[in-house]
Amino acid sequence: MEFRVMKLKDIPAVRKLELACIKEYFSETIENKWDDLPQDWKDNLGASSTNHYRPYLDSGLSFVAEEDGEIYGFIFAQMLHHIADCTNLVWIENLGVDPLVRRQEIGYRLLRETLRAGRAQHAEVAHSMIQPDNAPSIMLHKKIGFFIDRREVALMDLQDPKLKL
Ligand SMILES: CC(C)(COP(=O)(O)OP(=O)(O)OC[C@H]1O[C@@H](n2cnc3c(N)ncnc32)[C@H](O)[C@@H]1OP(=O)(O)O)[C@@H](O)C(=O)NCCC(=O)NCCS
Repeated sequence: MEFRVMKLKDIPAVRKLELACIKEYFSETIENKWDDLPQDWKDNLGASSTNHYRPYLDSGLSFVAEEDGEIYGFIFAQMLHHIADCTNLVWIENLGVDPLVRRQEIGYRLLRETLRAGRAQHAEVAHSMIQPDNAPSIMLHKKIGFFIDRREVALMDLQDPKLKL
């Protein structure tokens, strides 16, 4: 499996995977009413949507997991400036792994790529969007070293000398 920076050509495959992940989440949280939701609303969902992907591509902080030309995982992140007392903050919007290849460290490695790249771009902190009822995501963030409290964001001090990424 190759882990590399996301490119424009990846967007169609990443879109398909991100929508499948969002749909999966919806089917677990509300009854499966996906087909009844308005199409224009669905078109705007996710960082891979036409209106949203550009800053995530430009950031150099978004990655894909690819093997034999197939995309098996993605992570969308960008740098935010002058927010939450930080000059540079890595904002992780979403990540997802194809259900066929989950639990093979792909999510972990994608997250690690983003955090390493964020550090290289002089970020002080990373914030990641997590849902409190998403156990796999919470466990993944804890495993890599995020601090999670009752807020719905996860924090990591990228300047911690003890941090091992
Ligand atoms: C969350 C997600 C990205 C994890 O990807 P993954 O490649 O399967 O995760 P990894 O194999 O890298 O797992 C790393 C660690 O995360 C935790 N973890 C992952 N999946 C888990 C699960 N189903 N149950 C409990 N812990 C889990 C474990 O601590 C795991 O380490 P371990 O295997 O040594 O126990 C994946 O389940 C997914 O795409 N889910 C749907 C989309 C989603 O919820 N995205 C998160 C939005 S923030």
